Amino acid sequence: MNDDLTSLARRRFIALASAAAAGVAAGGAAAGADAGARAGAGVADQRSGARGEFRYPKGFLWGAATAGHQVEGGNVNSDIWLLEHVKPTIFAESSGDACNHYQLYREDIALLAGLGFNTYRFSLEWSRIEPAPGEFLTAELEHYRRVLAACHEHGIAPMLTFNHFTTPRWFAAQGGWENPQAPELFARFCGRAAHHLGDLIVAASTLNEPNIGLLLKWFNLPPAMWQVQTAMLQAAAAACGSTRFSAIMAGDPQAMLPNLLKGHRLAYAAIKSEAGRFPLGVSIAMIDDQAVGPDSQRNAKRAECYEPWLAAAAESDFIGVQTYGRSRIGKDGIVPPDAGAELTQMGEEFYPQALEQTIRYAASATKKPVYVTENGIATTDDSRRVAYIGQALTGLERCLADGVDVRGYVHWSLLDNFEWPSGYRPKFGLIGVDRATQVRAVKPSARFLGAIARANAHNPESRS
Ligand code: BGC
Repeated sequence: MNDDLTSLARRRFIALASAAAAGVAAGGAAAGADAGARAGAGVADQRSGARGEFRYPKGFLWGAATAGHQVEGGNVNSDIWLLEHVKPTIFAESSGDACNHYQLYREDIALLAGLGFNTYRFSLEWSRIEPAPGEFLTAELEHYRRVLAACHEHGIAPMLTFNHFTTPRWFAAQGGWENPQAPELFARFCGRAAHHLGDLIVAASTLNEPNIGLLLKWFNLPPAMWQVQTAMLQAAAAACGSTRFSAIMAGDPQAMLPNLLKGHRLAYAAIKSEAGRFPLGVSIAMIDDQAVGPDSQRNAKRAECYEPWLAAAAESDFIGVQTYGRSRIGKDGIVPPDAGAELTQMGEEFYPQALEQTIRYAASATKKPVYVTENGIATTDDSRRVAYIGQALTGLERCLADGVDVRGYVHWSLLDNFEWPSGYRPKFGLIGVDRATQVRAVKPSARFLGAIARANAHNPESRS
């Protein structure tokens, strides 16, 4: 890594850390997670002024998120890359070059900062760093150091996800998270990464949505999808000369659960022992599950999908809440949205009110600070994204006004990107991407949320 950059990044980090310690926002932008850590304390001065503007606590983190495989491009050693390319596959298309964020991260971080944000959540690609078991590539760790340093140069607090779904192909071919050795393998990776990168991290999650597989079982997915998935995993195992292949979003979630929980615990300890300064939590997929009728399975769903992870978060430094909408749960499981309900490109109901409920549930179950690490909507009509953000924030503000300790709001996603099996069709981005030219197009929603971030205040009347 370039020496000037290294020292600049370190200076910036020290500036952020000292500003955080003094309880002020560095350069009017990111105050770092320590300042965020106090955010919940100062919740008095809020809905104020004639226009009903809501003022957020000092040091509140405002960000947008990506995940390596969804934006970097050419992530050829990962489990998902292989699953995209075997036959049959549940993936609509290959991730290909994605948004070429691996090369364009500087420009993307500069855009984010220029819009008024102070936080960037992104993930490490484990399969780049450890492409063969136990073989760690320093050059790849240095790549992520440069990404972290670029954040600091732009006054952006980097919030790191150690693992966002994808694993190395060799890990998947050993049974992925179903392999009893998985927790130790994951913790070894996290320890190495934290050792190399820890001084530049401001906040981090070990795992992203480790409960995703459990939740998928509750959706009314067609039986044919599960059959194709089984055949896809067999084809991937054969391609690796193995009898097993398992990925977090395609495998046996019950078999994975104890290993994921232990993986989080061991990773937490490994990261803390290498670099203990920043808050470290786990980011959970949380749908606003609403009970319908007297024999609703809502509580059974909660017990299965969330409770083990809420308990894990309660032993970490924070819980990351990731919410997109609601599910109504009756005695036979999910009740489809009403006819005529507005649907997103993912076929989910437009329901930004969900965020308030999941924040309250997460906070009361864990008694830990909450960071909203994902919230968003897939739509080609950006005015609906603006409306969604405004309504979601209004719910978050009610939580803050009630004294719930919420320290940040990170929108999914910074860029239109690779939406897993759905490919590139769903548009979650605040910024559009022309994948032929890689030219970025800032959407009005990015300016809307960026202006709120810059002001650290939200006027519910404003819509642009
Ligand atoms: C995941 C993202 C995904 C988003 C939208 C979350 O489940 O963390 O990777 O793109 O939701 O579906």
